[in-house]
Amino acid sequence: MGKALDGVRILDFTHVQSGPTCTQLLAWFGADVIKVERAGAGDVTREQLRDVPDADSLYFTMLNHNKRSITLDTKSAAGKEVLERLIKRCDVLVENFAPGALDRMGFTWQRIQSLNPKMIVASVKGFGPGPYEECKVYENVAQCAGGAASTTGFDDGPPLVTGAQIGDSGTGLHLALGIVAALYQRNTTGRGQRVLAAMQDGVLNLCRVKLRDQQRLERTGVMKEYPQYPDGKFGEAVPRAANASGGGQPGSILKCKGWETDPNAYLYFICQAPVWKEICKVIGKEHWVSDPDYSTPNARLPRLKQVFEAIEQWTMTKTKLEAMAILNEHDIPCGPILSMKELAYEPSLRATGTIVEVDHPKRGKYLTVGNPIKLSDSVTEVKRSPLLGEHTEEVLGELGYGAQDIAALRSGKVI
Ligand code: COA
Repeated sequence: MGKALDGVRILDFTHVQSGPTCTQLLAWFGADVIKVERAGAGDVTREQLRDVPDADSLYFTMLNHNKRSITLDTKSAAGKEVLERLIKRCDVLVENFAPGALDRMGFTWQRIQSLNPKMIVASVKGFGPGPYEECKVYENVAQCAGGAASTTGFDDGPPLVTGAQIGDSGTGLHLALGIVAALYQRNTTGRGQRVLAAMQDGVLNLCRVKLRDQQRLERTGVMKEYPQYPDGKFGEAVPRAANASGGGQPGSILKCKGWETDPNAYLYFICQAPVWKEICKVIGKEHWVSDPDYSTPNARLPRLKQVFEAIEQWTMTKTKLEAMAILNEHDIPCGPILSMKELAYEPSLRATGTIVEVDHPKRGKYLTVGNPIKLSDSVTEVKRSPLLGEHTEEVLGELGYGAQDIAALRSGKVI
């Protein structure tokens, strides 16, 4: 079966997490992704958080499937020549170096364009143009600078970062979409273009509902679905909303049977207005259906604490999965808090290829998250990540280098 991005060649100059997330997705859609790594060292994540001695870490393997790896010293004259040939041959260059690194290497946008006017140059940077554009940025910096940390956590505690890598992987996703759009536009213009996804922008995009709430707060001084209402005070900026729902239907995380010993014995419960009658029936509060203090969404807003306390009295009598099964019968939206262990062994995720077992020559079998985006005509096969420089000779051969040239590059430590 063909793949959506068959024939697209990606010069993958990415490292760590954000850029590799993007190019892994493109590889899963069928692009030929050639990862260029520093000779003798490689992507720094190959050796970060290692759990098997001398084998590439899970950090690396789980972000670099389906790619080819070549080593190259792109600061040497001979290395720059190889890079020039790659630029001429590829459709997209993806990079997430610190600001200015590509220019310092001698590959400015103008120079890349002169080598290949059709090339798309896609970059992840920490910040877009402005006061911080020169800064190096990692995941949690982006979460803090993009509005996620100030709006995550409990009102009486410090800002919190989330485990979801919205700064790195989130921005990688944004960049991948930009690249596919630029490839599409190139079909009509014949030209390449630059694609920029700044991590602050990506996080802010994912925090869109909080900018919504900022403006609501400025207009009305209060947000009735936040836990600060009605007893607490609102300040000038959107406060941390604990586990309140981000949408128009109130929600909360409630204890389930076993919560005293199991840190994940909880359920997210959404108090959706259209199923209020069913909620009352399930928790044994039928009188709330006609009680004017509880019968409408607006009447419930100042009483959400009491409402969720009552629902929790019921959820605490069931395990999270028992509660979910009962609530689903009544069409009441809810979600169990699933641990990574539960997700790793969930058969339905294995069946769809969202959790995949991969074999690696040095580390053996490991689990990874497969392609979360499913295309019916471009089915993803997850292949192991490449060893450092595994495809150097193969790719150099495709670029026209013969065996002697390759030997010379190797003895000069260029590859
Ligand atoms: N051959 C020779 N030199 C190479 C090379 C190669 N194959 N690949 C990279 N280099 C050089 C770069 O040119 C750069 O040199 P310079 O500083 O002299 O210009 C150097 O290696 C280091 O690159 P840099 O990107 O600055 O790495 P770093 O480890 O100092 O910083 C980050 C890491 C992630 C902080 C930084 O790359 C960054 O801010 N990136 C953008 C935002 C981002 O993606 N952050 C999230 C990462 S998950």
